[in-house]
Amino acid sequence: MFSAATYVERRKTLCARLTERGEKGLLLFPGNSASPMNYTNNAYPFRQDSSFLYFFGHNHEGLTGVIDLDAGESWYFDQGFSMDDIIWSGALATPEELAARCGAERYGNEDTLSQMISDARKKERPVHVLPVYRADTRMRLVQLLDCGIMEADTFISTPFIEEVVNLRSIKSIEEVMEIELALETSYAMYANALSAARPGASERQIVSVLHSTLALAGTSPSFTPICTGRGQILHNHEYSHMLHSGDLLLIDSGAESANHYASDITRTFPVSGTFTEQQRDIYSIVLAAQEAAISQCAPDIAFLDCHLTAATTIASGLKDLGILKGNVEDIVAAGAHALFFPHGLGHMLGLDVHDMEGLGEDFVGYDDTITRSDQFGLRGLRLGRKLQHGFVITVEPGCYFIPALMEQWKAEGTCKEFINFDVASQFSEFGGIRIEDDIYITREGHRVLGQQIPKTIAGIEGRMHASSQRLYQRG
Ligand code: GLY
Ligand code: MN
Repeated sequence: MFSAATYVERRKTLCARLTERGEKGLLLFPGNSASPMNYTNNAYPFRQDSSFLYFFGHNHEGLTGVIDLDAGESWYFDQGFSMDDIIWSGALATPEELAARCGAERYGNEDTLSQMISDARKKERPVHVLPVYRADTRMRLVQLLDCGIMEADTFISTPFIEEVVNLRSIKSIEEVMEIELALETSYAMYANALSAARPGASERQIVSVLHSTLALAGTSPSFTPICTGRGQILHNHEYSHMLHSGDLLLIDSGAESANHYASDITRTFPVSGTFTEQQRDIYSIVLAAQEAAISQCAPDIAFLDCHLTAATTIASGLKDLGILKGNVEDIVAAGAHALFFPHGLGHMLGLDVHDMEGLGEDFVGYDDTITRSDQFGLRGLRLGRKLQHGFVITVEPGCYFIPALMEQWKAEGTCKEFINFDVASQFSEFGGIRIEDDIYITREGHRVLGQQIPKTIAGIEGRMHASSQRLYQRG
C-alpha cells in the first residue's frame, strides 16, 4: 500500500469535486469477494476491485468503503476474522489498524454498514454506486440497498463515475513509478522469452518462461498473456503450436507491480532470429507507425489524431507494397487500411490494463468534443480524447492478414477501389505483427516508460543471435 496520506488525499479530492457539483449522500465502494472455481474454498486468485484499491488500498476480500459526502468523512468496513480464519489463513490486523492504514476516520463491521445504508435509504439520502462487473457484487448491492437485481443499476451515478475517471486518469509520480516497477518485470519476461524462442520450441514453453519470470518476481500477470505464432488472432490465448523457422512469435503480456499497477508490452520477433524479407517489410511499417504515433503524444493532442497518424503510416507502407492503392488520405478516410489494422491504437493504463474499462469505455476515452466513430476499426479505439499531462497510455499499432476477413471483404467488394486483393492474398499465411509500449504524457510531451526492450530489426536480431550464440557455446 501507499501511505495513508495518499488515500486520504484521493478521497478528499473526490469528495470536494462531487460536493462542488452539488452531490450529496454516500459513495459506496464494495470491494471484491473471493471467486470460487469449483467449490467455495478453492477460489481463483484474488484480485481487488481497482477503484476500491485506488481509494482504500487494501487488498483482501470482504471489505467495503464508504465516503459520506455530507459529513466529509470516510468509513472502512471489515467483516473481521474468526478463530477459523486465524487457524487456516493466519491473523490479519484488526479493523481499527486497517482503517488507520488507509486513513479512514471511521470503521465498522457488516452490521454497522447495513444499518448505515438502511438509514440513508429511509432518509432518502442518495447512495451512489459505480457500475458493477461481477454478479456477486451485484448481489451484495441488492442486499445492502434492499432492492431488486436490476434496480441496483438505478444507483449508478454518472457524476461519481466522471469524477473517479478524472482522478484515476491523472497518474501521480508514485503511480508512474509503480508502472515502471511492473515494466522491470516485463523487461525480464521479454529478455527470457527472446532467449528461449527457437525453432522446435513450443508456444507453451515460451509462455511458461513468462509465467516463471512473473513467479520469480513474486507477481502476477496483468492479463492473460498472448504468446502465439498466429498473431493475426488478436487475443489468441491458445498455446498449442510448435514454433518453426520462418514463424513470427507475437507476445503481448504484462505484469502487476506490488501495488497492482499494470504494464502492457507487445513484441513480435522471428523465431529463427532473422526476419524474412516479407517480415522486414511489414515489421518496418508497424514500427514506423508506432514511432510516428508516439512522437505525436503530448498534452492537448487528441489520441484520435495519433491513431490516424499510425493508420496513415500503415496505409502508406501497404500502398508501397502494392497491397493498397489510391490516395493515402482517401484510404484512411474510407477505413480501407482497417482490413489490416482493425483495432485502436491504444488505451489508458493504470490499476487495470485497460484502465477503468469497468466504469465504461466512453467515460474514459471520449468526451463532448470527441465521440466514438462507428467505422470498422476506428470504433475499436478505446481512447480518442485529448491527452493530458499525467495520462499513461499504450501505443500499439499492428498489421495483420486475417484470411477470413480478407475473403469477406473481397466477396463483398468492401473498399475494393483501395485494395489489391490479389497482392494481399500473397500474405494470407503471414500472420500478424503488433508492437506496444507504455507512454507517460509529461508536461512537455511524453516519455516512453521502462527500460527499452529490443524493438528495432537490428536490436531484435542482435539480441536473438547473441542468445543463440550463448546456447551454442553452452552446448
Ligand atoms: N494487451 C492486450 C490489450 O491491450 O488488449
Ligand atoms: Mn494493450
